[in-house]
Amino acid sequence: MTTPATPSTHEPLNALLRRMPKAELHIHIEGSLEPELIFRLAQRNGVALKYDSVEALRTAYAFSDLQSFLDIYYAGASVLLKEEDFFDMAWAYFERAAADNVVHAELFFDPQTHTERGVPFETVVRGLHHACQRAHQELGISSRLIMCFLRHLSEEDAFKTLEQALPWRQYFVGVGLDSSERGHPPSKFERVFAKCRELGLHIVAHAGEEGPPAYIEEALDLLKAERIDHGVRCVEKPELVQRLARERVPLTVCPLSNVKLCVFKHLGEHNIAALLQQGLVVTVNSDDPAYFGGYLNQNFVELFEALPQLGAREAYQLALNSFEASFVDQATKDGWKRQLDAVFGAAL
Ligand code: ADE
Ligand code: ZN
Repeated sequence: MTTPATPSTHEPLNALLRRMPKAELHIHIEGSLEPELIFRLAQRNGVALKYDSVEALRTAYAFSDLQSFLDIYYAGASVLLKEEDFFDMAWAYFERAAADNVVHAELFFDPQTHTERGVPFETVVRGLHHACQRAHQELGISSRLIMCFLRHLSEEDAFKTLEQALPWRQYFVGVGLDSSERGHPPSKFERVFAKCRELGLHIVAHAGEEGPPAYIEEALDLLKAERIDHGVRCVEKPELVQRLARERVPLTVCPLSNVKLCVFKHLGEHNIAALLQQGLVVTVNSDDPAYFGGYLNQNFVELFEALPQLGAREAYQLALNSFEASFVDQATKDGWKRQLDAVFGAAL
């Protein structure tokens, strides 16, 4: 028996969500470190953990806000010491991404989390780059690396990290801003992002996850961010929502993350459908999938189950947005759109 090239109009929505090609633009690679791999690497590297079993660690994944998550996330990353550790982590992510029909992934990495512990920048970037190369060869997934500055540290620290990164400039396409948002506005990093722009790097920034709409405006006006990571608090300022729509600034939204970190009480309350309806270039992403209960397809499926106004048309638009918002050339985007059209066929 052969499989039809296009789905019937009755193909269940979940199957379409899983099958459609998509790009992931907001994934912290350290947030893909599953508890089992944390324990395996801890043993391999002789690193002591506070938890005595995988189950005990998983049980600790009950977060009340962003900071309560970050404390555990940085502890988890402490098992990463060698180039092969970074490779193993990223390769595990790519295998899961392939199963979700992710054709392109832009991975955030947090070098300061590792260099602070004495791990050379080179070790981090080589391990990740090797996994990216192999993902392209063996899984057909294209990828890019985006280096994030930790906003709870100083701008001087960010400048030092940029200096360390310069010999590896060709290994990453952009810079971002993550970690504890409240009290650390984008304005704190205005000069280092200006330097990054001079170097021809793409600019993204987490803003409006827990922080106010003013942080989104600072990210746009002061850092010149091309995409906003999260951005869901934009709804508190209607002029900002209109601006994001008018300027086609993509928001990389992370539904399961938002619920786990108590930005929304449950998925039924999430504002992504309303933002999509207002013409914003919103995308669906997993953020830190090992900690938040699922990879990209899980985010799509749970979101669509929780929001009945989302159907096949919205699924198509979200996948198309993920391609539009990616940092690749137009011909590559056009190729992905053709793949997307072939999957949707008569489903729209
Ligand atoms: N680092 C990893 N995940 C993050 C998130 N959701 N917000 C800010 N920084 C992060
Ligand atoms: Zn994030």
